[in-house]
Amino acid sequence: MGEFYRRALKKIDKLTLHQSHELLFSASGEISRLETVLDSLHMGILVCDEKHNLVMVNKSARRLLPLNYTEGELWQAVRDERIVDFLKHTLLNSHRVTDREMEIVQQGCSRLLSINVVPLVHARKITGSLICIEDITEKRKGESRLRRAESLASLTTLAAGVAHEIKNPLGSISIHLQLLQKALAKNTASSLEKSTDRYFTVLKEEVDRLNRIVVDFLFAVRPMNLDLRKGDINELILQMVELVRVETDQSSIRCLLELDDKLPKILLDERYMKQALLNLIKNAQAAMPDGGLLTVATSHVENEIRISICDTGTGISAENISKIFEPYFTTKETGTGLGLTQVFKIIREHHGEIAVDSAPGEGTDFQITLPIPQKETRMIAYLTPSPQSEGSRPYNAVSEGGSK
Ligand SMILES: Nc1ncnc2c1ncn2[C@@H]1O[C@H](COP(=O)(O)OP(=O)(O)O)[C@@H](O)[C@H]1O
Ligand SMILES: [Mg+2]
Repeated sequence: MGEFYRRALKKIDKLTLHQSHELLFSASGEISRLETVLDSLHMGILVCDEKHNLVMVNKSARRLLPLNYTEGELWQAVRDERIVDFLKHTLLNSHRVTDREMEIVQQGCSRLLSINVVPLVHARKITGSLICIEDITEKRKGESRLRRAESLASLTTLAAGVAHEIKNPLGSISIHLQLLQKALAKNTASSLEKSTDRYFTVLKEEVDRLNRIVVDFLFAVRPMNLDLRKGDINELILQMVELVRVETDQSSIRCLLELDDKLPKILLDERYMKQALLNLIKNAQAAMPDGGLLTVATSHVENEIRISICDTGTGISAENISKIFEPYFTTKETGTGLGLTQVFKIIREHHGEIAVDSAPGEGTDFQITLPIPQKETRMIAYLTPSPQSEGSRPYNAVSEGGSK
């Protein structure tokens, strides 16, 4: 479109007056169409030239961002100081920012905005910048409502689990107290000593069991206060595999590590992440009592890290697979059934996800994905297409030389 007018303008002295009028009419029609489109968008849009002067502001931008003027220098126009600081820092350093969240207070109400800053490049030169603003207040509220509902639901299953677990030791304690009472009533010194000894042992064991259930319960429901630092997942895997080395050797389990040596570091809480990896490795080990192969692999794609912990053990039946993350679900005689609940919680707290694939008799594969945090990436290349294709694809984003 732009190219059509450019070409027509070059020949303007050859056009008749009528033709020039037609050209102007059609151009102004195009401009008002573009304005209507931009004003119909929910997203606020501000366009600046290379000197950071506002050249275009749509309706939503005026609604979302308090402005003094809709032209002139961007820093003079925007009223909110924190946003001005952010925009100055970003634009003057030629940064590109994706989804920066900022809170602003408007008419006494606080709103959460998500801001994107994208450089406009034409013919390999920066010709300005595009600022897109979205109000994500309601979206965020919805998300936190969902999280609350989810955590309430998991608390209910957890509480039901605890109630179930507590029933057995309580039953046993009650029976043994009755037996004790009877023995005391008979009160023949020799019989008393023999039986009470046994009853007291059982009572103590059952009280210990109750105590463990409560301690585990508290661990499962207590909020995790993650201490997030940059960490190397590969390093943690190596440490955890080493920790179980003696046991895996003893049960003839071979460990194969396929670790991505370019794995980016991510923010994590080492203590919790180690615990999650160890729980999965120990489960894999328990599933291969007669030996097998444990494969731990890492890889990364654009914005996430993937970890796979795969065994050639017993596998999990279709009936059980939906229950394994539930608190207290175990198929082991001495299992707590809290290992995977803990893993699930730790991965969720790190904003990751966990999935499982299993075939009974063949083995199980647990896959974790963890997000690589989006950083402000240095602005690199935004190439406009060559003039021939202009109009069909206005901006063609190409990253040149990585995104550091
Ligand atoms: N790698 C695995 N292979 C087979 N079954 C598994 C594996 N990991 C977990 N499971 C099943 O999931 C159940 C729950 O695991 P978990 O929460 O760690 O509790 P626990 O290990 O105490 O039983 C286990 O009892 C087992 O049946
Ligand atoms: Mg376990």
